[in-house]
Amino acid sequence: MRKLLIKVFGLDTLYKVRKSPVVNFLPRLKMASGVYNYRYGQILRWSLQSREDTNFTYELSEDNLLYMAHTVAVVADVSPKLVQQYIREAQTDEALRQHILEKTRTSSYRRVADLRVEFGRRLGWYALVRLRKPEVVIETGVDKGLGAVLLCAALLRNREEGKPGRYYGTDIATKAGYLLDGPYREVGEVLYGDSITSLRAFSQPIDLFINDSDHSATYEEDEYRVVLPKLGPGGLLLSDNAHETSALARLSLEVGRKFVFFKEIPKDHWYPGAGIGFSY
Ligand SMILES: C[S@@+](CC[C@H](N)C(=O)[O-])C[C@H]1O[C@@H](n2cnc3c(N)ncnc32)[C@H](O)[C@@H]1O
Repeated sequence: MRKLLIKVFGLDTLYKVRKSPVVNFLPRLKMASGVYNYRYGQILRWSLQSREDTNFTYELSEDNLLYMAHTVAVVADVSPKLVQQYIREAQTDEALRQHILEKTRTSSYRRVADLRVEFGRRLGWYALVRLRKPEVVIETGVDKGLGAVLLCAALLRNREEGKPGRYYGTDIATKAGYLLDGPYREVGEVLYGDSITSLRAFSQPIDLFINDSDHSATYEEDEYRVVLPKLGPGGLLLSDNAHETSALARLSLEVGRKFVFFKEIPKDHWYPGAGIGFSY
């Protein structure tokens, strides 16, 4: 049959037909969707088991944590093994884990929070605080306070090592930050109100700034422009929005700062992950 077809139509024509997207519609659809089908299982599990509707939490894959360690090592100019040690320090902090579980159990946010502790990309923030020993850390956008309490755990350890620092979160929601309590509140506080207004009024030099509030590109850029002149020597700007906008990358180019981006890969969650944009 094949020989007859070649005789009648010629090999060239047959080859073109075989490769045509229209003729091969179904096998091509099967091949491409096969790459994404596993997501349906994750979506089903999440929709049945998770209470989180936003600001999702998840573990990162081992390889992804390794990439994170290498990226933070480049930014902080240290060995990746040291970064890995700090990442492990946060992952194995049992007091912090118990604090988060207990506060979640008793909070009114319980309806929208899972009884799990997974920090995702925030582990990169933690490692930077441990490495750079900043005196002032600002995080815009606090929500439940997962980043806040993790950053404060790093500041508490720095304080034990004789390098104290303070955390300031900003949030427009008056109930944000229920996790920032107990010993962690000794080194941190939330400034309630619009982030830009709080940043304009802030008068200390800022060593580490993390943007995670209003995620529109213009608001994000406005935050950086307010913070830039207030940065201390070697001050770092981090974006939690760099998977969505290039605001920090563009601004870094404009003002002569380096920029790198780490993309997180959640281990078992349908959410494709956010990332950390580093400007240094
Ligand atoms: C993605 S959540 C922050 C998550 C948090 N950084 C963490 O580690 O889990 C964003 C937060 O930004 C706050 N927000 C939104 N617009 C804001 C604004 N203009 N000023 C201050 N906070 C704002 C929201 O209330 C919300 O709590």
